[in-house]
Amino acid sequence: MQIRRCAVLFIEPREDLGIDWSALFSGASALGATMRWIALAPHLDGEREIDATELALLGSVGQTQWMAHEALAERAGAAPLARLLDLGLLISDAPEHAGPRERDETLRGQHWRPLSALTHGFSRWEGMKVDSGMQFPTFEQLVENYGTPPLPAVERGDMAAAIALPAPRAGALDQFMLHRYTGRNFDKRAVLPLADAARLLQRAFGAQAEREMAPDAFVLKKVSPSAGGLHPIEAYVLAQRVEGVPVGLYHYHPVRHTLAPIQALSAQGAADLALAAVADQDWFADAPIMVILAARVERNFWKYRNHAKAYRALLLDAGHLSQTWYLLATEAGMPAFITAAINEIDLEKAFGLDPLRDAVIAVCGCGPASGAQDTVELRYGEAQPPVA
Ligand SMILES: Cc1cc2nc3c(=O)[nH]c(=O)nc-3n(C[C@H](O)[C@H](O)[C@H](O)COP(=O)(O)O)c2cc1C
Repeated sequence: MQIRRCAVLFIEPREDLGIDWSALFSGASALGATMRWIALAPHLDGEREIDATELALLGSVGQTQWMAHEALAERAGAAPLARLLDLGLLISDAPEHAGPRERDETLRGQHWRPLSALTHGFSRWEGMKVDSGMQFPTFEQLVENYGTPPLPAVERGDMAAAIALPAPRAGALDQFMLHRYTGRNFDKRAVLPLADAARLLQRAFGAQAEREMAPDAFVLKKVSPSAGGLHPIEAYVLAQRVEGVPVGLYHYHPVRHTLAPIQALSAQGAADLALAAVADQDWFADAPIMVILAARVERNFWKYRNHAKAYRALLLDAGHLSQTWYLLATEAGMPAFITAAINEIDLEKAFGLDPLRDAVIAVCGCGPASGAQDTVELRYGEAQPPVA
């Protein structure tokens, strides 16, 4: 059997604080701290606790060259070696360890920057729920708990010499930009007209042109910018009430302009998934359409392999797509939303996505407003005109 270490591994010395009750009653310091070694490896589905012997063994095995099992067992002992293989932190070529080996190979094949793979892997939620009873902490509650927030705008540079700029002239984009807002009161009966869905999907996520930059190396031109022109973010659709589209999960093809079914759902199944997707934020769950933004990382990492900025670029790409989505929704007379408070793991399972390959980043949606104000929205009221 041949052995090597998994490709990406970070070790956290974790301190757990606890009350030592016997010390408390004898009058001594009652706060006790225990230290544990926590192994964080993105090819696994969670963290693993190891001991100091196993830590030392991991530090002596490289991630590139294969080593003979016998030699390693002789040097480090059979028990820690067997445990690290079981945990999936050491990789072997034996059939019984195929599971972690395949995940490790998938990770190696994507060219993630190790810290980025860790950040993404360990910031995903499953089954998380925001406190829907309270909806949001109000600003009053936040101020009570944390004091007043840092000022919304700061003065930097020589303010005495600051150049006063003319008021912005009116422009064609104003009618959309100045009415864009995050909707939190969707009409739970409204059906999104197919024409609106088609325009929103095509203009926000579709290709407006295609160009061959080198032989067999194509890029899509979209309305939003994208790092390296690679547009790695795919749009997965959860359709609850879209005219002519059966309730279910779809992938939007940016060139063919099609919705390919992934899974049909009942109305209740779709509603349940919508609520779970946004971590129980019920103010978003009634949107007739949701779009899950998931980065096909190998498309970006093909160019930016093992790159310090690549993951940041994926997040920025998602932000641009979202703003385009918001503006298109505004043009169609609807509010939109984006949220990063999402249950990525539930969405990966529903859409059949591998988090090492397809990084779920955010969920957008839109739909007609109900007219109620059950949950706060930040709109330009007549009493509060835009600043400029
Ligand atoms: C990255 C990002 C994440 C957000 N996440 C949430 C969220 O989890 N829940 C929510 O209600 N709004 C969320 N929002 C919407 C913001 O709360 C909203 O943009 C902000 O309150 C300003 O309101 P406006 O969009 O109407 O101007 C998010 C916005 C962004 C850009």
